[in-house]
Amino acid sequence: MINDAQPIGHDASDARAMRHDQRPIVLVGMMGSGKSSVGRRLAARLGLPFFDADDEIEVAAGRSVTDIFADFGEAHFRDGERRVIARLLDHGRCVIATGGGAFAQDDTRALILSRGLSVWLDVPVPVLVDRVSRRNHRPLLRDRDPATVLGDLLQKRAPAYQQAHLHIHASASPHGRAVEAIIAALKDLPL
Ligand code: S3P
Repeated sequence: MINDAQPIGHDASDARAMRHDQRPIVLVGMMGSGKSSVGRRLAARLGLPFFDADDEIEVAAGRSVTDIFADFGEAHFRDGERRVIARLLDHGRCVIATGGGAFAQDDTRALILSRGLSVWLDVPVPVLVDRVSRRNHRPLLRDRDPATVLGDLLQKRAPAYQQAHLHIHASASPHGRAVEAIIAALKDLPL
């Protein structure tokens, strides 16, 4: 039983168990699946640097994701997203949270699959809807019904997400459980 109230500290034995694999761990999955929160916790647990690709895009562009979509359109955002993720993949062992659409882009997915260890955080649509409804910063959801948009997007993107190296069913459970499930799956990977 995982006590989610406990702070997650660096666990050197977990990090040691996986030291043969120096690929960045790349979290993929839908908006609201918890990639950033889970990624931050996973990185702390393994004593690795954490990067949020959307944050890095905002720094590189000097404007928010919302403004990039509004001012230049989605295609421009996807181009910047691919370049930023390519740079992050050069970092060596770390944890990277990607934006929900990144792994659905053929070029970006190919980069991640060849240079990273991808983990699909698979969360049911009703849970995604509940989580995204708490904040209103996502351009693809603005003024639209989140259940419809997320359902449609997941249907389109599932064939891409299914290509991830690892598939974690994260459901509505606390983020600490997803971290444990990822660590167990990473330890099970063949040498
Ligand atoms: C997007 C997801 C967002 C962000 C952008 C587009 C998508 O990231 O990259 O709004 O296409 O699903 P999160 O998954 O972190 O919300």
